[in-house]
Amino acid sequence: MKVLFVCLGNICRSPTAEGVFRKYLAASPLADKVSVDSAGTADWHTGKAPDPRTCAAALKRGYDLSKLQARQATAEDFHEFDLILAMDNSNLANLEALRPANSRAELDLLLQRYDLPRSEVPDPYYGGEQGFEDVLNLLENASQALLAELQERV
Ligand code: 4NP
Repeated sequence: MKVLFVCLGNICRSPTAEGVFRKYLAASPLADKVSVDSAGTADWHTGKAPDPRTCAAALKRGYDLSKLQARQATAEDFHEFDLILAMDNSNLANLEALRPANSRAELDLLLQRYDLPRSEVPDPYYGGEQGFEDVLNLLENASQALLAELQERV
């Protein structure tokens, strides 16, 4: 089972999702059965590490994102991954446009999939520090729900 998290730049929300979910996964019986990656719909930050504010907020909670490198989502990802999870509706629309006709991946809006109180992970890029904490809180809840789903499925 391969899971891909997608946001716009792949330097704030989706690398956070990748780091949080990886850590939950590592401590679960699914550790060697599920693989995880993240990507952005834009190519602006390709090859770069996550935003320093993202890394700092994540590290305070024990998630080391410093080795991650941004990349752009591709049509090929729809053949490679089983589950592609978008952070907001704009990411989802961009992914729908990229999706090849014969793709096997399931595409969904991450928070909506689990009926969490919000349906989108807000973009923290132009805001203050609290935005990065909000992203972590939302993604910790979503990662727990995703892990529970995969434990049923895998
Ligand atoms: P992300 O946040 O999609 O969560 O990685 C953003 C990162 C960069 C930009 C926008 C959003 N940007 O405009 O460069």
